[in-house]
Amino acid sequence: MQDKMQKLVALCKRRGFVFPASEIYGGFANSYTYGPYGSELKKNIKDLWWKTFVSSRRDMVGIDGPIILHPKLWEASGHVGGFNDAMVDCKQCKKRFRADHLVEEATGQDFEGELEKMQEVLVNEKVKCKVCGSSDWSEVRVFNLMFKTEMNTTEGGEENIAYLRPETAGAIFIEFKNVVDSSRVKVPFGIAQIGKAFRNEIVAGNFIFRLREFEQMEIEYFIDPELAWEELFEDWLLKQEQFAMALGAKPEDIRRYEHAQEKLSHYSKKTVDIEYNFPFGGFKELFGLAHRTDFDLKAHAEASGTKLEYFDAANNRRFVPHVIEPTFGLDRSILTALVAAYTEEELEEGSRIVMKFPRNLAPVTVAVFPLLKNKPELVAKAEEVFANLSMIFKAEFDDNGNVGKRYRRQDEIGTPFCVTIDFDSLEDDTVTVRDRDTMEQERVKIEELVGYIQEKL
Ligand code: GAP
Repeated sequence: MQDKMQKLVALCKRRGFVFPASEIYGGFANSYTYGPYGSELKKNIKDLWWKTFVSSRRDMVGIDGPIILHPKLWEASGHVGGFNDAMVDCKQCKKRFRADHLVEEATGQDFEGELEKMQEVLVNEKVKCKVCGSSDWSEVRVFNLMFKTEMNTTEGGEENIAYLRPETAGAIFIEFKNVVDSSRVKVPFGIAQIGKAFRNEIVAGNFIFRLREFEQMEIEYFIDPELAWEELFEDWLLKQEQFAMALGAKPEDIRRYEHAQEKLSHYSKKTVDIEYNFPFGGFKELFGLAHRTDFDLKAHAEASGTKLEYFDAANNRRFVPHVIEPTFGLDRSILTALVAAYTEEELEEGSRIVMKFPRNLAPVTVAVFPLLKNKPELVAKAEEVFANLSMIFKAEFDDNGNVGKRYRRQDEIGTPFCVTIDFDSLEDDTVTVRDRDTMEQERVKIEELVGYIQEKL
């Protein structure tokens, strides 16, 4: 499985999905750039998410808030005080680790939050440093995960400290009143946002699984506190599982993990993760669903002095809504789509690697080839076909190497359709369309190409 991951990481670099960022400066740990195809894939996933959960629903609206928000927000939300990880340093090689992860790997038990217990395990079990192999540990300490920045560098001082948002949710809660006042939403309704979040994670590799700078696609779904919420909660879990499958995940690679009551985040009454079977270490969190109660709205109302309530005109009731929060990591969605798509196939004429993305997510929908690049009449016809298709689909013009090589390249990018313009095309206005998965070829009229592809999408 780890082998698959290495091959996938190599393909991502070779084909322009994901590059290690700042490479020419020697790299910068755990930061990545989505390359030409990776950024298309990312955009397609975002668009699918927005369409599924926002634009196709009458009970949802979207916002796009800032990354740097009023620092008091993060005090009220509990992040300044409680958004911590337990860390420990190796005294020999000075590397820093998540203490709870080291201890869990050594004992199979989760001691999150129990610093003394973690220290005890590290010492008694002589847990070894993963880098240098020594067992000489510092004290286990908690570190806040929020990135700090200074708003006004000329003056300095604590009063100028601001934070990069550690979750997109914060911006949603503080705009609750503006959204209710400006749109015609009625409880139950949701506010969605896609955007960057930042956490000072001690990262244990695993490619784009755990990053310091990542994107979330989050919904705060506001409900009547008296609503029997369990059915709705179950419904959101199903929707999250369906979205994982829309990324290409097989049902057997998806499972639920409910957090124990004593391990819940400070704001949560119930949290269930949707986990995916990643090729490193098995099932890990992909999405999360939490019942955040009225914790956030009440906390922000108290800290800001602004009432954050909802008036139910039909029943003449005023209340602070409760919140169900479905949260989706965008980078983990991309990783899931990449892992699920990666396929090696043995063919009579050799082997091929093919990225079997769901067709609607593929970075390029259709590639257009002139059979020979040195025949101007073929090139001109192919350019004409490309111009028409690229108005509707993400299309690519490819005249490099022989057609077999072009197919291999498009397979590795995951392009579902390759269209070849040959000498017959000049006579009868038909082209060959080759299917990525079956590799079967069909002759299609140029004027019917758009409809043919749209139907298959
Ligand atoms: N608002 C709730 C919240 O932020 P979370 O479980 O901490 O909950 C939500 O994060 C999702 O964001 C996770 O399910 C995961 O997909 C993604 N995520 C969290 N930390 C991440 C990181 N360091 N790198 C990449 N994705 C991350």
